[in-house]
Amino acid sequence: MQFYDLIATSAFGLESVVAGELKGLGFDTVKVENGRVLFTGDSADIARCNIWLRCSDRVLVRIKEFSAFDFEELYQGTLSVPWESIIPVNGKMHITGKSVKSKLHSVPDCQSIVKKAVVEAMKRKFQLEKFLEDGPVYKIEISMLNDTAELTIDTTGPGLHKRGYRQEQGEAPLKETLAAGLVLMSRWDPSRIFSDPMCGSGTIPIEAAMIGRRIAPGLKRAFSSEAWPSIPEGIWNRIRNEAGGMILPSSFKISASDIDRNVFEKARENARLAGVDNDIDFQKKPVQEFSSRHKFGCIISNPPYGERLSSLTEIRTLYSDMGRVFLKLDNWSLFILTANDDFEKLFGKKADRKRKLYNGKIKCNYYQYFGKPPWKVQMKENGMPEV
Ligand SMILES: C[S@@+](CC[C@H](N)C(=O)[O-])C[C@H]1O[C@@H](n2cnc3c(N)ncnc32)[C@H](O)[C@@H]1O
Repeated sequence: MQFYDLIATSAFGLESVVAGELKGLGFDTVKVENGRVLFTGDSADIARCNIWLRCSDRVLVRIKEFSAFDFEELYQGTLSVPWESIIPVNGKMHITGKSVKSKLHSVPDCQSIVKKAVVEAMKRKFQLEKFLEDGPVYKIEISMLNDTAELTIDTTGPGLHKRGYRQEQGEAPLKETLAAGLVLMSRWDPSRIFSDPMCGSGTIPIEAAMIGRRIAPGLKRAFSSEAWPSIPEGIWNRIRNEAGGMILPSSFKISASDIDRNVFEKARENARLAGVDNDIDFQKKPVQEFSSRHKFGCIISNPPYGERLSSLTEIRTLYSDMGRVFLKLDNWSLFILTANDDFEKLFGKKADRKRKLYNGKIKCNYYQYFGKPPWKVQMKENGMPEV
């Protein structure tokens, strides 16, 4: 069996969540770096990670890492890879690149040197002068960092956030991978009430429902490595069938609301496409009217950030309204993602924990307020000392 060095890439701030997901999938040895997690696996693991990872952006195969201070070193380093055993004769070789703090700073030049070396290695093996490149896609990335070249091949194709359910979106939708990360970081489980009272196109409640029902995020989409002869179709079918068999029946109701009827109509359609419309109760309602007689619930929400100056006053009012409404809830846990640095002041309470995350290019904080767990409340009610 062939083992590969694999990389699960992620948005900055989500690396430890991706590492946790990989551990949950049975990969004991993972190495966390900025924006990625390294691990090893076989071809079935490539399929499994693509189908199951919720927070990673894509899964790459790491081919080689070497020093390259000039084009000759880049060419020779690339040529020494047995490309002919990786790429079939009709493989489409698509080269992308990036360069940071390296002598080889011209990305187009790096890309064409790499392509030349890969084609040369293929020519030697297949004794051909030209390749049709009408077969499966092999997206090779040359990444230069501090004069070290790293060659990877993408196994995913369109990013893993493209689950296939979001045909409709609101104005500022979260990436599905980030929304799933927010839910996983909250440690919510379906025994607790869950609500997103500013749900927009519904990404957070839909991802929560998929987590609650154990629906694999990649179940309904295709991946570029599905066409690779090195990962037989049977592997993909087996992993998809296993994942299909693991889906739990509906057993909970998530509440999702928004002030804007248009967006939540879209959210409802997205939930239907994701197969979780029975698990989410959508309502048109302003957050100011949110209340619950239940204890120990969980709110995860992504309110507007007020980036346009004109809306800053509205945002101030909205955040203080949220504080007034949410802080009344009995032992609920609250998780709010916003880029507005005044959030805690306006909300009226300092967060128990703050975590820096990026929503695309926008630097945000994930403000976390932990409600007391039921057992702690029970102990207090029974007059036992706090632990
Ligand atoms: C940043 S968007 C949420 C995006 C969402 N997470 C998604 O992935 O599509 C913020 C949402 O808050 C809603 N909103 C703004 N003020 C509100 C209010 N007072 N009550 C309820 N929803 C509100 C907006 O209509 C918008 O859909």
